[in-house]
Amino acid sequence: MSKPKPLRKAVLPVAGLGTRFLPATKAMPKEMLTVVDRPLIQYAIDEAREAGIEEFCLITGRGKDSLIDYFDIAYELEATLRERNKVDALEALKPSSIEAGSLVAVRQQEPLGLGHAIWCARSFIGDDPFAILLPDDIVQAKTSCLKQLADAYYQTGGSVVAVTEVPREHTNRYGILDTGKDDGRLVEVKGLVEKPKPEDAPSNLSIIGRYILTPEIMPHLSKLEKGAGGEVQLTDAMAKTIGEVPFHGLRYEGRRFDCGNKIGFLEAQIAFSLDRPDLADDVKGFLKNYTQNL
Ligand code: UTP
Repeated sequence: MSKPKPLRKAVLPVAGLGTRFLPATKAMPKEMLTVVDRPLIQYAIDEAREAGIEEFCLITGRGKDSLIDYFDIAYELEATLRERNKVDALEALKPSSIEAGSLVAVRQQEPLGLGHAIWCARSFIGDDPFAILLPDDIVQAKTSCLKQLADAYYQTGGSVVAVTEVPREHTNRYGILDTGKDDGRLVEVKGLVEKPKPEDAPSNLSIIGRYILTPEIMPHLSKLEKGAGGEVQLTDAMAKTIGEVPFHGLRYEGRRFDCGNKIGFLEAQIAFSLDRPDLADDVKGFLKNYTQNL
């Protein structure tokens, strides 16, 4: 195996409509919803940075401009905070600044599917490997989920997707793996199916919103073929690269919260606040009060 190209780029699709969070998402992007005190998009950027990502591409749509503003410098705010000597508040702003020229945004004019969203980043991707992070999935882990995937990418030299077991009756919500060799952590991918019915699903291993893909996927994506739900599915194009490049699923270590749905989002608030030394005791206290009569 020749040495894999360094992984430096990440694509973050944020052009979806976020209908499951209406009315909140009527006038703000889903990715700006906060878990504790940070927007979902910040968790994704932090995770990507930990994996060595240096260049970011947001796939945006109408009504998503606040995401771009979020990563800009807030001159007036910072000047006021400095004047008032609000050191902690200034410190809290730091992760939201991205080096000049390292963040680009591309518009997906119509939300035609995740595959179409990634195709919109084709100029950014060029001939390089790239990560995809869906910001509505957040993962609580000692080593960030994308870092674990990046390690597996350098080990295998091919595409790697984060996978987790789901109840068989839920396979019709996810991209599902047809599995080959499996060492309990790294699973060879023999096939991929988007949202199969439980009786047709080749396994119950589903892909979560973290991927590292090699550029071989782009010619397949460019065909813009529609799949499940009439959308251009990323899973279908990934399936076509099997055999062209090594392709693995990684059972990552950590806990994933699907913040694209309400229960996952609420659970994430509890889990991440219990992880915060400044909040944990208070949160435990009120949880006890709420739960004692359940
Ligand atoms: P979802 O399936 O969660 O769709 O997309 P959504 O529109 O965000 O939310 P709901 O289902 O209406 O509540 C998964 C990810 O893919 C992006 C979304 O922004 C989200 O990060 N996406 C999806 C796009 O960027 N473009 C698309 O055409 C579809």
